[in-house]
Amino acid sequence: MQKVNTKLPAFVRQEGGSMEQKNLDQIIRETVARYMNRSLIVAGNWKMNTTPVEGVELFKGIVAKKGEVCSCVNFIVAPPFTHLSEIVKLSRGTGIGVGAQNCAAEAKGAYTGELSAEMIASLGVEYVILGHSERRQYYGETSETLNKKMAQAYANNLTPIYCVGENLEEREAGKHFDVVRQQVEEVVFNLTPEQFSKLIIAYEPVWAIGTGKTATADQAQEIHAYIRKVLAEKFGDAANETVILYGGSCKPANAAEIFAKEDVDGGLIGGAALKVSDFKGIIDAFN
Ligand code: 13P
Repeated sequence: MQKVNTKLPAFVRQEGGSMEQKNLDQIIRETVARYMNRSLIVAGNWKMNTTPVEGVELFKGIVAKKGEVCSCVNFIVAPPFTHLSEIVKLSRGTGIGVGAQNCAAEAKGAYTGELSAEMIASLGVEYVILGHSERRQYYGETSETLNKKMAQAYANNLTPIYCVGENLEEREAGKHFDVVRQQVEEVVFNLTPEQFSKLIIAYEPVWAIGTGKTATADQAQEIHAYIRKVLAEKFGDAANETVILYGGSCKPANAAEIFAKEDVDGGLIGGAALKVSDFKGIIDAFN
């Protein structure tokens, strides 16, 4: 992954007050953070869309546009399982990473309909989305399940893209900070520092997914900075390097403003990832 993002994490800037008030540790921390880089990533979560033939066409369209966008941005696509083998083959030499949308919590055995992390990784897939709100909501995924899935992902060298986010009721009740804290603490806090160093997080407010309603850039920044602060409580300065993506009705029209925020390192895109022009338009937000 290319390291190009020189944005200073907001929690470093916001805490501590004036330079005079800061002790030496804080000043050192701030200086280190200033020179720390994070990858910029735009990932497309295709969800349960496209046939394999359509998926290949979509992928080829994305490859064709890749040369036209900033080489600073890393692309990932997460097609349905049925497409992975073919799309991994097509992705070779393109610099586009391929991810799965889920993996089983168990390693192998009598789990009809499940696909293990080992099976997925053996295809050459590099990433796996875990904890997406649709899986939490429709398939009852809990932190307990997700801890097992994370362990399977790491054991098979898949990089997890771990999703967190509150629903509308929780946002309206002002509980969004507590919700994401819990989702982070119950799963991410169980990782070793080495595992944590590879993790990607996606903040996806459920009320913004597929609804056309997006978080404002300020709302995204506020909670991304908060997530980074929570991560720092456990993992210290390593949290400065964690890529945190925004997801939820991200479109070419709003991506630039959201991605410009210090703690937003790119996006996890649903609907707009299914149209080459929209996906490219979102990536152009970095130009
Ligand atoms: P939309 O971009 O369609 O809102 O979906 C976001 C998402 O859930 C990506 O994982």
